[in-house]
Amino acid sequence: MNVTIDTNRLQAELGQLAAFSSSQGPGVTRVLWSEADQQARAFMRRLCDQAGLRVREDALGNLFARWVGSAPDLPAVASGSHIDAIPDSGRYDGTVGVLGALEAIRALQQAGFQPQRSLELILFTAEEPTRFGIGCLGSRVLAGTLDPAALRQLRDRAGATLDELRAAAGFVGDLGQVALAPGCYSAFLELHIEQGPLLEQAGLPIGIVRAIAAPASLRIALHGQGGHAGAVLMPARHDALLAAAEIALAVEAAALATGSPDTVATTGVLRIEPGAINSIPARALLEIDVRDIASAPRDQALAAIERAADEICARRGIHAERTLLNADPPAMGDPALIELVAQACQEHGIGHQVMVSRAYHDSLFMARVCPTSMIFIPCRGGVSHRPDEYAAPEAIARGVEVLARSLAAASVMP
Ligand code: GLV
Ligand code: MN
Ligand code: MN
Repeated sequence: MNVTIDTNRLQAELGQLAAFSSSQGPGVTRVLWSEADQQARAFMRRLCDQAGLRVREDALGNLFARWVGSAPDLPAVASGSHIDAIPDSGRYDGTVGVLGALEAIRALQQAGFQPQRSLELILFTAEEPTRFGIGCLGSRVLAGTLDPAALRQLRDRAGATLDELRAAAGFVGDLGQVALAPGCYSAFLELHIEQGPLLEQAGLPIGIVRAIAAPASLRIALHGQGGHAGAVLMPARHDALLAAAEIALAVEAAALATGSPDTVATTGVLRIEPGAINSIPARALLEIDVRDIASAPRDQALAAIERAADEICARRGIHAERTLLNADPPAMGDPALIELVAQACQEHGIGHQVMVSRAYHDSLFMARVCPTSMIFIPCRGGVSHRPDEYAAPEAIARGVEVLARSLAAASVMP
């Protein structure tokens, strides 16, 4: 089959999508249900309509666009990713997997291919944790691991609830209906930039993911005592920022102490109030991201952080509220699907290696729904979550070609 990827069209669409941003370029900021996110969703809906796909959205805003196959009753083959972007990030994280899946479908249509199993593009709601503190929101709910009661507890930084925000974005309906029915997909394949340097270093165009690291997020709210920066003497203080600073150092120490080179921990959020130069910080909020490719060292680091936070707060007379937002197990790639992608590469002389994903992805949760793997392409210097994130047009086109050939093979599998 002659699969031709329209690189010009795909690059133009990546550029158009990047323009829906609430920050000045070159960085992209597209937080769930912001105006930029809503515009980007409308753009994606239009493209899916133009490709003749059957579009539906669920109560959480996950979007499904289906090319109905000749055996519409068989479980479909799915592919997709996210279009939300963390503050001041790049234009390729997630978007390559969404626009790339669309381009793969269009290339197969152009090639005259007729799928047996339907092919479905999924745009997942909020893979990034920016709005609610929890990553993979859409896929987490699709996999049935977060129920409506837990969803209703979620609030953003301004105190708005998920129900308020989704209604304002036009998504109403029963959250209890979002979880996918068992057996609805036969396979899920996500195309993504590697977000690490290994493919570039190895000079290989394709990575096939065999495992996704185990992520956890911890939120710690600290309540100290504010006061006048001139009038309150040092021994009388209960400064929330100083406790937070000690906790951030304990986070680093905990990651270094597990004995696993794969443990990483990051205090990515630290906000203080009231935030005035002549006022002692009364409150601090930390959000801490802890990961490893195995659960045990990740959990060891988490426990050490919690112990350290308790000790620091007791010593400094600070009240702490700790919330473990998530602590997910790692996910495994499906061996048969990995083999199918490897075959698609081999048949066309495309170099590849099987590898681990240190970043998390919607595939972490789709792996609970159906056989899942990911196709990685190199990105310059392994840089991601930064404005200078970059993947070359040829690298993207190669990934889309492998995705298209893999989806085609999966769609005719018995
Ligand atoms: C995904 O964006 C991650 O933080 O791994
Ligand atoms: Mn990301
Ligand atoms: Mn991503």
